[in-house]
Amino acid sequence: MVSVVIDGVSREAQRGELLIDAIQGVGTEIPHVCYHPQLGSIQTCDTCMVETEGKLVRACATAVVDGMSVSTRSAKAKAAQVEAFDRILSNHLLYCTVCDNNNGNCVVHNTTKLLAIEHQRIPFRSKPYEVDETSPFYRYDPNQCILCGRCVEACQNVEVNETLSINWEDPNPRVLWDGGSTIGESSCVSCGHCVTVCPCNALMEKSMLTHAGFFTSLRKSTLNRMIEVVKGIEPETGYAAILALSEAEEAMREQRIRKTKTVCTYCGVGCSFDVWTKDRHILKIVPEHGPANGISTCIKGKFGWGHISSPDRLTSPLIRENGKFRNATWDEALSLVARRLTEIKSQSGPDSMAFITSSKCTNEESFLMQKLARAVVGTNNVDNCSRYCQNPATVGLFRTVGYGGDSGSIKDLEEADLVILIGSNTAESHPVIATRIKRAHKLKGQRLIVSDIREHEMARRADVFLHPKPSTDLVWLSAVSRYLLDNDLANKAFLREHVNGLEAFRKGLEPFTMEAAARITGLSVETLTKVARMISEARRVCIAWAMGVTQHSMGSDTSTAISNLLLVTGNYMRHGTGAYPMRGHNNVQGASDNGSQPTNLPGYQPVDDPEVRARHEAAWKVKLPSTKGLDNHQMVEAIHQGKLKAMYIVGEEMAIVDSNANYVEAAFEKLDFFVVQDIFFSHTCRYADVVLPGAPSMEKEGTFTNTERRIQRLYQVLEPLGDCRADWRIIRDLANQMGAKWRYEHPSEVMDEVASLTPLFAGVNYARLEGYNSLQWPVAAEGTDQPLLYKEKFNFPDGKARLFPVSWTGPVEQFDAEYDLHLNNGRLLEHFHEGNLTYRTEGIRQKSPDVFVEVSPELAEARGIQSGTWVQLVSPYGQVRVRALVTDRVSGNELYMPMNSVESPVNRLTGSHTDPITDTPAYKEASVRLKVLDEVGESPLPRINPRFGHPTPQHGVEVERKWKRSDYRMPGNGTV
Ligand code: SF4
Ligand code: SF4
Ligand code: SF4
Ligand code: FES
Repeated sequence: MVSVVIDGVSREAQRGELLIDAIQGVGTEIPHVCYHPQLGSIQTCDTCMVETEGKLVRACATAVVDGMSVSTRSAKAKAAQVEAFDRILSNHLLYCTVCDNNNGNCVVHNTTKLLAIEHQRIPFRSKPYEVDETSPFYRYDPNQCILCGRCVEACQNVEVNETLSINWEDPNPRVLWDGGSTIGESSCVSCGHCVTVCPCNALMEKSMLTHAGFFTSLRKSTLNRMIEVVKGIEPETGYAAILALSEAEEAMREQRIRKTKTVCTYCGVGCSFDVWTKDRHILKIVPEHGPANGISTCIKGKFGWGHISSPDRLTSPLIRENGKFRNATWDEALSLVARRLTEIKSQSGPDSMAFITSSKCTNEESFLMQKLARAVVGTNNVDNCSRYCQNPATVGLFRTVGYGGDSGSIKDLEEADLVILIGSNTAESHPVIATRIKRAHKLKGQRLIVSDIREHEMARRADVFLHPKPSTDLVWLSAVSRYLLDNDLANKAFLREHVNGLEAFRKGLEPFTMEAAARITGLSVETLTKVARMISEARRVCIAWAMGVTQHSMGSDTSTAISNLLLVTGNYMRHGTGAYPMRGHNNVQGASDNGSQPTNLPGYQPVDDPEVRARHEAAWKVKLPSTKGLDNHQMVEAIHQGKLKAMYIVGEEMAIVDSNANYVEAAFEKLDFFVVQDIFFSHTCRYADVVLPGAPSMEKEGTFTNTERRIQRLYQVLEPLGDCRADWRIIRDLANQMGAKWRYEHPSEVMDEVASLTPLFAGVNYARLEGYNSLQWPVAAEGTDQPLLYKEKFNFPDGKARLFPVSWTGPVEQFDAEYDLHLNNGRLLEHFHEGNLTYRTEGIRQKSPDVFVEVSPELAEARGIQSGTWVQLVSPYGQVRVRALVTDRVSGNELYMPMNSVESPVNRLTGSHTDPITDTPAYKEASVRLKVLDEVGESPLPRINPRFGHPTPQHGVEVERKWKRSDYRMPGNGTV
């Protein structure tokens, strides 16, 4: 700490802290417009001028030093602040009372008031540009833009999409998209960062416009007249009276606009934000305090909420009768389900039933589902969709370090000196995590290695892009480990102190010479050696991986090889290091954490451990099944074998997200009784006997656990639509119909029960998770959590990690003459999975209306394909008809198909092969043949898709260019 004098009073401040933070930290208000703590100093507005040592400086760009004396109120400082703000007002028409941004947080409004501006000295001057309305989600009004550059900084250096700039040299500067395109045709990915940080109404969500204010829905001509009246009275009354009027209107808004914290329903990043609503209308999403995301979101979290009030929502239970569904009451539906499950249990035993929980549902709901299966029905046949993606990563970590979770936080990925991404299209699948890596790479010298068979955005940004042959990551990872050990580049002290199994591991590495690796992977020995050197030279290395690793027949072993490499190099137990399996769904981590697994009770406590069972039996007052249940892959087989008679699936589009979709559908047709709980009539619902309408995340309370093991609360934003109910209520009521006596009235009671039975969550409770507070498990009883998972020891009895030898066996499905193309698949930024939720947002549908198959330019030329050509893809398991998109993101005989389709799902083509350890389908090991159909349509991606844009990377706002303008001078006659 250092001593500073602020406005004559001695204060303490952090050494090196920005003056603006120190001043505000002691409760002194200081005008500032462009400064935002999450953007840092961008120095465009000059309103934060303070006087120190007789000189004027920008408080947002000056670091505190010991003994400094600062005046925020001296005549000189005040004059400079007012002069700077006057220039801002010349770019902005103050019509607050009829502005949708008049919500108490408008920086221009608040600064006018703070500086007690009565009259504008520099008159407002409009700019010669039209309002840009071409984005479906937001609009830009150049006439209201004060050129603060916050949006540019956010786009260039936080989101790092590099779309925005300001043409400082122009006589009339403005914000530009791709250097001068419309927003709609630019590279803008609609992440919303710019809109979120805009301090005024220049950038606004379209969902706010005409909805937020009491007068803003008036006709444009009426509004314009009102604005003229306001401006007309300003010379006489001054701004104070006008602001008082607008504040009265703002106070009225407070009564009807609700602001509720929630957690994103889409991916595992776990972004949290406030949702502003007026009745059921979502006005906007406001990210700011989220521990995982701060001001960041992606298109889905910021704008993808059309599903919430979609007319397609299920609003009443449905019962199938004579082959058709009819509406039913809850009493009818729940008693039918309870009766049929009870009958089947007594006829065929509890293990003739199976339960699938949803990774979109809350932790509490997953807990109740597995409790229903185990304690009420009496079976361990319970699973969740982490079987389809995450379990191999979890196994790799359990084998080597003892916990199946990220070893640090997103912040650690940001702090690493080297990040390695393997089989992870991070910019599209975990967009906000990608922003942190892109930022560190752009601004902080972080190095990036990407291994993928597709050249996606992160691959293009990488320092080294590895494009190995499909399914060979295990080989290069093991070869690098061997090289490091052989060349004395391993971290010997770490291995000695913290790791077991080195000798057996070394023996297991024998086949993995660099030469063998080069032969198998297709990468050169030089490249592999360079990678090994980069890893050994980096002080802190993080490896993140996703489905490009796990959805292989060697998914568990490749995940193990990743962790082995981190152990060999000592990249655990420190910030900026570790293993990061990127969890897919918002709560896929939590679904497994809370026991929706056939082998484990909550907190990964094995079902075959008598002590664990005894503890749960005492609490639940039932006898629990002791043998491992079926996982969801085995469930499908068991239905085909006639062993499984009934299923209850919550929020899982299993009919098309499981591999070999035709086979799965054939199984569902054989079930005696099938219950599906969802928010839409999904494809899976078609096979159901009873459909129960659940509630989306915004209509209930609970917690989600993100990829960092971070448990966060979501609060109820809206009432459940129609007759639908929060899923935890449905499960509770069904259990009670089946004879349980569950008395939960709120999800917090469920969490209390989880904590009482599960050492991993011993200290978790709703009070500790209030608001934006969060906890990263394990959480000790007194509430201490562990952002860094391994600090002094690994999670084994002796505290030592274990090197685990693995071998390479090759992919199950190989190309042959008949199926000559490799088919890869994955997510698309705009959609989540098959798109059941995201297609309900009109703007997303416009930008990304359909599925497609990516074809390389070489293959396109050889087969006479262009973007828009219809092709038929045929595999041994099924076929789909789809339009081609020719792109150099893929090369040679590799195809890529995103998952965003219910009509032509990629899983009609994938087979039933699995990773034998976890039964995770080998989705990424598919071979197809391609038939060109005699039909050419439009390109499947419209021109307004951001992939057609041309970003304009630069170093943030580049305020120096503004300072070079001949009409610029520093306010108060200071120097720049
Ligand atoms: S990508 Fe688009 S929405 Fe995101 S910050 Fe840039 S301009 Fe704004
Ligand atoms: S549009 Fe950008 S430059 Fe203009 S006021 Fe908003 S954040 Fe500032
Ligand atoms: S989808 Fe993922 S990255 Fe996008 S806002 Fe939601 S949690 Fe964040
Ligand atoms: S807040 Fe300091 S220059 Fe804008």
